[in-house]
Amino acid sequence: MSMIRAIRGATTAAMNTKEEIFSASQEMIEKIIADNDIDVSDISDIIFTVTPDITAAFPAAAVRRMGIADVPLLDMAAPNINDALKMCIRVMVHINTDKSNSELHHVYLRGAKVLRPDIGSKGKISVAIDGPAGAGKSSVAKKLAERLGYIYIDTGAMYRTVGVYGIEKGIDIANEKDRLISELDNIKIEINYENGIQRMYLNGSDVTGRIRENDASMAASAVAVIPEIRERLVAMQQEMAKTGGVIMDGRDIGTKVLPNAELKIYLTASVENRAMRRYKEYVEKGEECDFEAIKADVIKRDYNDTHRAASPLVQADDAILVDTSDMNFEESVAAIEKMIKNTEVH
Ligand code: DC
Repeated sequence: MSMIRAIRGATTAAMNTKEEIFSASQEMIEKIIADNDIDVSDISDIIFTVTPDITAAFPAAAVRRMGIADVPLLDMAAPNINDALKMCIRVMVHINTDKSNSELHHVYLRGAKVLRPDIGSKGKISVAIDGPAGAGKSSVAKKLAERLGYIYIDTGAMYRTVGVYGIEKGIDIANEKDRLISELDNIKIEINYENGIQRMYLNGSDVTGRIRENDASMAASAVAVIPEIRERLVAMQQEMAKTGGVIMDGRDIGTKVLPNAELKIYLTASVENRAMRRYKEYVEKGEECDFEAIKADVIKRDYNDTHRAASPLVQADDAILVDTSDMNFEESVAAIEKMIKNTEVH
C-alpha cells in the first residue's frame, strides 16, 4: 500500500554562514536520497527546522540550488530548548512510498543524534485496550492519550474505512470477499492527527465522518472477518506503534497486534449498561430509539465479535479486566491512568 512516510535527518553547522549551512543541508539531503534510493518525483515536501542560533532561511534555499525545483519546501526556526544540540538543522522529508517505516533510513550526521532530550518517548509504554463494542474504549483511550501525551490509535476506524471503500465500489462485502481482497492494493488508507483528532483518509478523501454511519459499521464488521484484510491492517497498526507511547484500541490488540504491549486492558461493561449508555446517547441527540432493540443489537455484536474465526474478541491471558458497569467515565479513565503510570518505566 503506497503511502506518505517521513524520513528524518539531522546535522549540525560549524558556523552560522550561508555557505556552511548550504553545505551541511545539501550533504544531509543527498544522503537521505541516496540511502533510501529516492526518486525526487516521489518527494511530497521537505520541512526544515533549525535551532535559533543559526539563520533559518538557508536550508530550503540549499535544496533549490541542488536543482530540486518542484518540491514544496518550508524553513522554520525551532523553539529554544534547554540542553538541545547547538547549531542544528533538522529535516523531515515526506515521500510517497511502498516501503514500511522499518525499511526507511534516517540520517544523522555531524554528531546530530539526541536532538530533543525533552520529548524522547523514553518512559512511555504501549497500551492495548480491547473489549466489546460500546464499552467506552475509544472515549477512554482518547482522554488518556490527551492527558498523558500518548498517541491514540483507533483501529476500528481502519476496518470502517475499508468498509466504506467496499460500499463506494458497490461490493457486497459478505458475499464478494475475493473481489474486495483483489482490490486491496487500490485501498490507500492514511491517518492524520489534526488538533489531536484522528482523521481517516480513503484514497485522499476525508472519510472521518462517513465511517461512523450505520452502513459503514455493518460493512466494517463484514470486513473484520476477512483474514487477508486483517493481516494488512494489523501490519499497518504494528508499524504505527513502533515509536512506543501509543494507546491502541480494538478487538485483537493485546492478542495479535501488540502481544508484547507493556499494559493490556480488557475493558468491558454489562450488556445492560452498554445498551443504556447507547440509549442515552440517542436520547441526548433527540433521536428516536427503543431500548430493547439497542440491547438486542449489543448482544448480536458481542456474538459476532467473539464467534468469528479470524482473531475473535478474547481477553488476552495477561490483560487486566476493567469492568466499568459501576464506574462513570472519569472513574474509568482514572483507574487506567493509574495503571499506566505504575507501568511506565522511569
Ligand atoms: O470499534 P469499532 O466499532 O469502530 O470497530 C469496527 C469494526 O471493526 C467492528 O466490527 C469490530 C472490528 N474490529 C476488529 O475486528 N478488530 C479491531 N482491532 C478493531 C475493530
